[in-house]
Amino acid sequence: MATPHNRAEKGEIAPSVLLPGDPLRAKFIAENFLSDVKQFNSVRNMFGFTGTYNGKPVSVMGTGMGCPSIGIYTYELIHFYDVKTLIRIGSCGAMTKDLHLGDIVMAIGASTDSNYGAQYELPGTFSATASYSLLRKAQQFAEDFGFPYKVGNVLSSDVFYGDTEGRSMKWTKMGILAAEMESYALYCNAARAGVDALGIFSVSDSLVTGEEMSADDRQNSFTNMMKVALETAV
Ligand code: HPA
Repeated sequence: MATPHNRAEKGEIAPSVLLPGDPLRAKFIAENFLSDVKQFNSVRNMFGFTGTYNGKPVSVMGTGMGCPSIGIYTYELIHFYDVKTLIRIGSCGAMTKDLHLGDIVMAIGASTDSNYGAQYELPGTFSATASYSLLRKAQQFAEDFGFPYKVGNVLSSDVFYGDTEGRSMKWTKMGILAAEMESYALYCNAARAGVDALGIFSVSDSLVTGEEMSADDRQNSFTNMMKVALETAV
């Protein structure tokens, strides 16, 4: 049973899936952190792998960038492959000066400028939130490992190269910690289906100071985030 975007058979994907935006990062995680790895998807080069971590099954699959892309892949994982735990891992741009390059951000909620939630035809605005049990677990692992982290609201934006001056400042005034592009759709899909989702990020750049991470630093801080995500997933 394949979908238009995933050629996996039922049973080839674990109930817990890690979701980096970049499919090559999914490959990197499978090769460096998992054992007994089997690739289950290569449609559109959106690579997906299943393996074990600490002896327990876990899958990792790319999502692409933005709400439409992660919306498709996670809908299929939930509804066609019975996935119950979805943990997005990715980079984010800090929107507060209290966050530093390499810090971990856990999204308790996701605000958005996307129209993704319109499909539900709600008589109001939906607050997209993380699974509290996953968030609690992830926070505990970050504490245990001694990794710096913050928990808060993120902005899932449809726009990376925005045209409006001061746009991000308005979100900062509402306490938004960081910008990324996918969590709102992930949290909506999970909420609608009654499954667990969480977004964990590594600060790769700052919209406040303009700082950016070097490629080497990026890799190390990603490793911290991945460890927290893997421990939380299994
Ligand atoms: N905006 C959106 N997504 C991002 C950013 C950003 O500034 N940095 C890393 N991912």
